[in-house]
Amino acid sequence: MYVYLNGKIVPSKEAVVSVFDHGFLYGDGVYETMRVYDGVIFMIDEHIRRLYRSASMIGLTIPLETDLLKISIYETLIANRLKNAYVRLTVSRGHGDIGLDPELCTKPTIVIIVQKLKEYPRAFYKNGISLIIPETRKNLREAINPRIKSLNFLNNILAKIEAKKRDAYEAVMLNVYGKLTEGTISNVFFYENGILCTPSPACGILDGITRGIVIDLARREGFKVEEGEFTKDDIYSAVEVFITNTTLEVMPVSKVDDQGYAVGKITKLLHKTYRQEVNAYMANVRAGLFQHLRKSMC
Ligand code: PDD
Repeated sequence: MYVYLNGKIVPSKEAVVSVFDHGFLYGDGVYETMRVYDGVIFMIDEHIRRLYRSASMIGLTIPLETDLLKISIYETLIANRLKNAYVRLTVSRGHGDIGLDPELCTKPTIVIIVQKLKEYPRAFYKNGISLIIPETRKNLREAINPRIKSLNFLNNILAKIEAKKRDAYEAVMLNVYGKLTEGTISNVFFYENGILCTPSPACGILDGITRGIVIDLARREGFKVEEGEFTKDDIYSAVEVFITNTTLEVMPVSKVDDQGYAVGKITKLLHKTYRQEVNAYMANVRAGLFQHLRKSMC
């Protein structure tokens, strides 16, 4: 396996970061996860845009042009000869003396890891996964804004520990006002009274790229979508629940705490249309590449 580290693609054994890296010492940095379908990185521009947004929200300047970063991701993918893959792009504050001052670090550390995609078990999609509402509350927007996709994941890890203790796959946290927010690595949706509901960004969530696509698709399919403030009773009384993220796409939920749900028609339809969207995106990228090649040959 090969890893991109600060401008070089090296064997994974040589991809070593300093113990003085502020990403390691303080969780000071940002990241993105992308999914590669048959050699095409899905929604690469949106992920890169969000990475730069997260970096700017913590006052971190990424010392690479976006195009060069995109090329580096593709180069790492090619070096690993992978077509269906998981990409983890991390930018930390970099190596510096001990201390919180970001100015102690002069150069961010950039790492790109590409791995074979571990497909989720089919049973998850067929039967749904179980979810809990944990005791751990979501970080306040005014404390660490969840819109920053940061390396500081302890809030989510504490919720994940609770989920594991209760034999659940995912945990959807409430904020301090008792409103639903998001899962530890996903956004949540539920269908109730003919409306597809999902917590609004104002509740304190990461505005997931998959979430955005699913909202658009649902509206295109004629569903009413409400981004709002919801309580756990709203999700308990729903008829369908699902979670979304880049790697798991649209995953049905069969249980929230003690409440059970069937894997319903709306979840299945949205997963199908999401897959169609992925295929359309891939076809578009390929058509663009083909045109580019033709032009450069003329
Ligand atoms: N996680 N909320 C949180 C806290 C997340 O970590 C993620 C993604 C999402 C969904 O975002 P998107 O649809 O853009 O993937 C929501 C990724 C997959 C991860 O941590 O690897």
